[in-house]
Amino acid sequence: MVADTSESGGMETVEQIRQAGGRARFARLDVTQAESSRSVVQATIAEFGDLHILFNGAGILAYGTVLETTEEAWARMLAVNLTGTFLVSKAALEHMVAKRRGSIVNVASTTGSHDACAHAAAYVSSKGGVTLLTRSMAIDYAKLGIRVNVICPGPTDTPMLRKALTPDELEAFARTFPMNRLGRPEEIAAAALFLASDDASFVTGAVLHVDGGQTAEV
Ligand SMILES: NC(=O)c1ccc[n+]([C@@H]2O[C@H](COP(=O)([O-])OP(=O)(O)OC[C@H]3O[C@@H](n4cnc5c(N)ncnc54)[C@H](O)[C@@H]3O)[C@@H](O)[C@H]2O)c1
Repeated sequence: MVADTSESGGMETVEQIRQAGGRARFARLDVTQAESSRSVVQATIAEFGDLHILFNGAGILAYGTVLETTEEAWARMLAVNLTGTFLVSKAALEHMVAKRRGSIVNVASTTGSHDACAHAAAYVSSKGGVTLLTRSMAIDYAKLGIRVNVICPGPTDTPMLRKALTPDELEAFARTFPMNRLGRPEEIAAAALFLASDDASFVTGAVLHVDGGQTAEV
């Protein structure tokens, strides 16, 4: 089940899965809404018979120091990035706990999990919260057969970053990291697949940096 506020983006992913021979459906989801989260979990179970894996990838990015961040912008950032992870996990966990099986993969960021960065007070705070929420869920649900891990991507070439920075800024930014380049979405996906799969059967509470060495040198 591909779930997002954006139907066009979600349908693009659904088509890619179908063309690769998989089965997929789109559901509209606003992660800030408990009811929306619950109904997508129900729809997934109705369509596919079960729910083994939850990948919490929804997120927003905005820059600003505390003085530059309005209360509304702060609340929105926490609502999508942190409360969204909480609400969708809660809806999925109700089912996973009953089945004594599940794997949740959250997405934080190198900024906010390993370190802060300038001019991103709300984003960094929300992602720090996602990392500790992950570890907290990992402890609480380990005995119930559910693993919870978090990926901290470094700067990755996605629409989020392309909206935030110009191509020149992106190139200059990429050159500041050990690998001299941005990550590719499929490199984050490969880490998510590992954490979601039984290959990671003894991995829970892990904070996996997929960042081309970015956090190795700070
Ligand atoms: N791109 C990077 O450099 C980078 C680095 C570190 C972490 N991340 C994190 O990776 C995740 C994916 O980001 P991305 O780079 O692919 O960005 P993106 O903007 O391309 O994708 C984010 C997706 O979240 C969806 N979304 C936003 N608000 C939502 C809501 N309320 N309910 C449901 N869906 C919602 C958007 O429609 C979009 O499809 C985010 O959590 C982001 O913070 C990205």
